Amino acid sequence: MASQTQDIANQIETLGSRLMLLSHRLRNGSSLESQRTEILDATAQVNAALEGPVDDVREMFNHFAKAVSIRLFIKWGAFTALPPIGQDISIDDLARKVGVDSGLLVRYAYVLGAAKIFNRCGDRLSHTPRSLSLAATPRMAQFFFDEMLPPILASPAYFDKYGPKAPTCRKNSLFSFGHGKPGVSVPQVINSSPERMANYVEAMKMMDRTYPFLAPYDLSWAADVAKETDRAVVVVDVGGGSGHSLKEIVKATRGLSMERCVLQDLPKIVEAAKRVKDQDLEGLKFVGVDFTAGRPVDGALVYYMRRMLHDYSDEACVGILRNVREAMAPDSRLLVVEQVMGEPPSLSATASNIFMTSLSGKERTLENIRDITARAGLGVVKAHWAAGGEAAIIECAKAM
Ligand SMILES: C[S@@+](CC[C@H](N)C(=O)[O-])C[C@H]1O[C@@H](n2cnc3c(N)ncnc32)[C@H](O)[C@@H]1O
Repeated sequence: MASQTQDIANQIETLGSRLMLLSHRLRNGSSLESQRTEILDATAQVNAALEGPVDDVREMFNHFAKAVSIRLFIKWGAFTALPPIGQDISIDDLARKVGVDSGLLVRYAYVLGAAKIFNRCGDRLSHTPRSLSLAATPRMAQFFFDEMLPPILASPAYFDKYGPKAPTCRKNSLFSFGHGKPGVSVPQVINSSPERMANYVEAMKMMDRTYPFLAPYDLSWAADVAKETDRAVVVVDVGGGSGHSLKEIVKATRGLSMERCVLQDLPKIVEAAKRVKDQDLEGLKFVGVDFTAGRPVDGALVYYMRRMLHDYSDEACVGILRNVREAMAPDSRLLVVEQVMGEPPSLSATASNIFMTSLSGKERTLENIRDITARAGLGVVKAHWAAGGEAAIIECAKAM
């Protein structure tokens, strides 16, 4: 027992040094955003050093209670009904305001108070920055609860039915199974109501913010080569959606103009992007190609694929990457922008991997990415890590 206590003391000491280092980084100018995951991971390890098996089960139970309390407060409009920051309200008054039995509301209010989502002092509640944020942008929490929880709960039944192997089929996904629609594609399941679609779009927008566009990769070499040659296309954004990445790329790269960029996506997505007539995309060429079936525009200097490969199994990625390789010239570069799982991966990266599993995709380590690119005849030139170390711009070239 004494040695176990010594062991915990050692672990806390090591973690204390790590936290000190992280606090120094913050004092020396690193942004909180770039250090957040590492700080949260370090504090989680302090908990892990002390927790036993009973705590794990209790923690699971606590997370369920917190999740359903957040979801019900959103549903009842109780976050938005709290008075502005600095003022408080009694639980009875809040219950009257949102039309919920006070004896019921109080149970969830206590959970959210204990979890520090808002402040609770006796029977009075007031906002914290966390509850204010849930009041302002509830859709991501709604998306996780309504869309991601059913597949998670259905996982044991799914693996019983289809065997305990990594899902790869995009139609027969765990996601669709969990929503009682086996064999229906994920977009079709989500598209079944405007509310579900709006929650999905908002959640994707918020997730998008955790991905870099280009930094720290410097694309100015491509703009320089383009200046000296008559290369018509400099950058092709493969699966580029609405073109928002291209806007950031052009903004960040001196000498690169929109006229020398191509947005490639499914024909209906490209048509929708064109219809917007976004001034910032003026000059951009739009090309509708299914990247699983055909290759993008030939001979561009740079092919760019952001936040896409993790939607697919390894096999499917190899097929998509082969199509890109076919279009590449000997001096072309492919830039893959993805979350990359470290070793050991953070808890949030592993959680994201479970989320992608339900969509028949996966998050990858750099080794995984090296493997799928090699199988497609490409080689990783360099991984350019974004601040925070959880995502990278992986520069690839044709393997000769
Ligand atoms: C998760 S979004 C990423 C969008 C964009 N790259 C970004 O970083 O925000 C995936 C994109 O891939 C596109 N996509 C999906 N399947 C495709 C296919 N078979 N062919 C071409 N594009 C496809 C989608 O329409 C969507 O725009």
